[in-house]
Amino acid sequence: MKNIILIGFMGAGKTTVGRFLAWEKKMKFVDTDERIVLEQGMEIPDIFAQKGEGFFRDLETELLTRMQEDTCDAVISVGGGMPVRKQNRALLRSLGCVIYLSASKQTILERVRNDGSRPMLAGGGLKEKVERLMREREGFYRRAAHIDVTTDGRSVRQVLKIIEQETRRFR
Ligand code: S3P
Repeated sequence: MKNIILIGFMGAGKTTVGRFLAWEKKMKFVDTDERIVLEQGMEIPDIFAQKGEGFFRDLETELLTRMQEDTCDAVISVGGGMPVRKQNRALLRSLGCVIYLSASKQTILERVRNDGSRPMLAGGGLKEKVERLMREREGFYRRAAHIDVTTDGRSVRQVLKIIEQETRRFR
């Protein structure tokens, strides 16, 4: 089977859901942020601070390009900004079934409030930043995805069940 790719805003639950999904389906789990950190030997905030956002975005595109060749039968969780580039959206869709995990602004704010590891949300004005980025990105997520799954008010188990049903229909 081809890959299952989870996209969505920071705090949507991509990594958590992805790990459980991979375990349940006995598939590999790949997290693009984790791979970038490993390959660069630097944490994401340090990459942003020392090399800039553009450098990180190029790393994301370069990784997605490489994954076309070396990744199959995997659940792949990608960073929240990955679907913003048009080129990345095409690369994501050619990797497999793309699932958009969505959540309301309120849910996202609750989940990212006490997390200092996301440079896109650092430096105060959290609510405004989340609102603006969600507004800017919503259309990109929808265009990149084959399937939308709302996570609001749902447990990980419930989200997994929906993904299971939807991906069966997708195949
Ligand atoms: C980003 C999301 C992060 C990470 C980086 C940039 C974004 O991943 O890739 O901090 O632009 O939305 P998560 O969505 O896993 O937090």
